[in-house]
Amino acid sequence: MLRVEQLTSGYGEISIIRDITFTIEKGEIVSVIGRNGVGKSTLMKTLIGLIRGKSGKVFFDGADITAAKAHERAQIGIGYVPQGHGVFPLLSVEENLKMGFSIHRSEAGKRLDIAYEYFPRLKERRTQKAGTLSGGEQAMLSIGRALVGKPKMILLDEPSEGIQPNLAQQIGDIVRRCSQDMGLTIMLCEQHMGLIQQASQRCYAIDKGTVVGTVTGDDIKDYNKIKKYLTV
Ligand SMILES: Nc1ncnc2c1ncn2[C@@H]1O[C@H](COP(=O)(O)OP(=O)(O)O)[C@@H](O)[C@H]1O
Ligand SMILES: [Mg+2]
Repeated sequence: MLRVEQLTSGYGEISIIRDITFTIEKGEIVSVIGRNGVGKSTLMKTLIGLIRGKSGKVFFDGADITAAKAHERAQIGIGYVPQGHGVFPLLSVEENLKMGFSIHRSEAGKRLDIAYEYFPRLKERRTQKAGTLSGGEQAMLSIGRALVGKPKMILLDEPSEGIQPNLAQQIGDIVRRCSQDMGLTIMLCEQHMGLIQQASQRCYAIDKGTVVGTVTGDDIKDYNKIKKYLTV
């Protein structure tokens, strides 16, 4: 579904992501793990087209999207849940969800129902201003909004940030369910051990902007095999 080949990107003259290569298959849930500042968010922003890569190639669903603009990437099915959740605080829950329509208009009503089906709590609070939601609810809203845009793949940037540990587990459950039910492909940037262990089928560990290890199979359940990539 996603193939990244020797991608380098960063800000101005500085390269943050260096020569990174990895793949994510259709329907997989793959975590990209690493400490603060290793380049996880920069990688995601490059993949959704907010930052332009300096070299390398990106393929999505069989097409070369290296030169595609951010809105084009969204339209062909790349959903994005930014770090910090990125909800519009003064808009209601439902107005936030409807922002997803701007990416994919058809079946709009049905898509809203799908978001509410996975996150019933959002339906209960649909008229509430998003800024008054808890961190966990904002994470749900951000994921719900991505679902409304009818993505083939969702890039989730640290959805656990600023939320209670038990809610992180719940979000992991929902992400797994979405992937199973809809065949969604998920790339999850995380440092939260519980969520990494619970949601991932595979992990790429990154440091200094490049892949330094992979964790697969039963090793994902091994605390120490993940922990070593999250500590200095
Ligand atoms: N807009 C920016 N301009 C310049 N440098 C940035 C910008 N955003 C992030 N960086 C730098 O890029 C590096 C990687 O940051 P980031 O991708 O946010 O890492 P992570 O998401 O893994 O914590 C850090 O050194 C950070 O200071
Ligand atoms: Mg980040």
